[in-house]
Amino acid sequence: MRDPAFPHRHLLGIEGLTPAEINYLLDLSDRYVGVNRGPEKTSDALRGRTIVNLFFENSTRTRTSFELAAKRLGANVINMQVETSSVVKGETLIDTAVTLNAMHPDVLAVRHPDSGAVKLLADKVNCGVVNGGDGSHEHPTQALLDALTIRRRKGRLSGLLVAICGDVLHSRVARSNFLLLLTMGARVRIIAPRTLIPSGVDRLGVEVFTDMTAGLKDVDIVMMLRVQSERMRGSFIPSVREYFHFFGLDRAKLGQAKPDALIMHPGPMNRGTEIDSDVADDVERSVIREQVELGVAVRMAVLEVLANNASAHNAAGHNAAGHNAAADSRQGLPGRTGT
Ligand code: MLT
Repeated sequence: MRDPAFPHRHLLGIEGLTPAEINYLLDLSDRYVGVNRGPEKTSDALRGRTIVNLFFENSTRTRTSFELAAKRLGANVINMQVETSSVVKGETLIDTAVTLNAMHPDVLAVRHPDSGAVKLLADKVNCGVVNGGDGSHEHPTQALLDALTIRRRKGRLSGLLVAICGDVLHSRVARSNFLLLLTMGARVRIIAPRTLIPSGVDRLGVEVFTDMTAGLKDVDIVMMLRVQSERMRGSFIPSVREYFHFFGLDRAKLGQAKPDALIMHPGPMNRGTEIDSDVADDVERSVIREQVELGVAVRMAVLEVLANNASAHNAAGHNAAGHNAAADSRQGLPGRTGT
């Protein structure tokens, strides 16, 4: 049986998750923080299972975090990098998914430069799929680890005032974060130059600011975003110097936030572009290293739940398209859509 507290086969985004499902993943992650801080950093929750990291985009941090998470659960881990995969030989995304699926992995952790590509792939496999970041769409494990970091430090998410600052337009981290934070009852402000604000974002329930001094006033959390130059087609910021002057987090701008406001960044940081080293390395208020640490625990929780749900799904006789082959043949049906 799939886990009744999180019955999904895949984690493709935060969109559509309930507060109870989010809390369930955070509670499980919290338990893994304890495991990771202990002397024996292993569990055998996924012993004998196979996790594949399928990364079509460069990443050291996120890939390593998924790899460590899978290994600490006792799983076998395969890393597929785009440079060495058959994708460069002309194999399509779907061919790659179907080929991998034939080898019976339990979960695929997939990162892809195109928004929506991970969902396309998930529709073709019968293992679980976790989105490790697709284009500028979603990065759900990042939002969960950010939420866990905030919840552990502040004791809650609900009622907090969170500012998400910088390149919101290109950021899957921003999107997953404001979906999660709003779902959990936090208030969200985004602060960015006009050129980096997605159109219609205010309709989602976030407050929009184009001035750091006004936007940071009395916030509990300052979440900075990396300037995603690789996704910019054209000129979005006049110069790094000007960007830092108006939107870079430094001690003076931080002075607007609450005195105990936390400083966050998903990494990798561009010091001197979106954040000053003085605040990034502030041991009292910066939780950037803790975010990295908690990321492993969150990925352990997600991999465990998805691997177990995948086993339940396959034990029920479903094939890759989500059809229950045995039941379909009994009823003479061509197949149904699964979730
Ligand atoms: C991402 O993959 O989006 C990262 O975690 C954050 C970034 O690259 O800015």
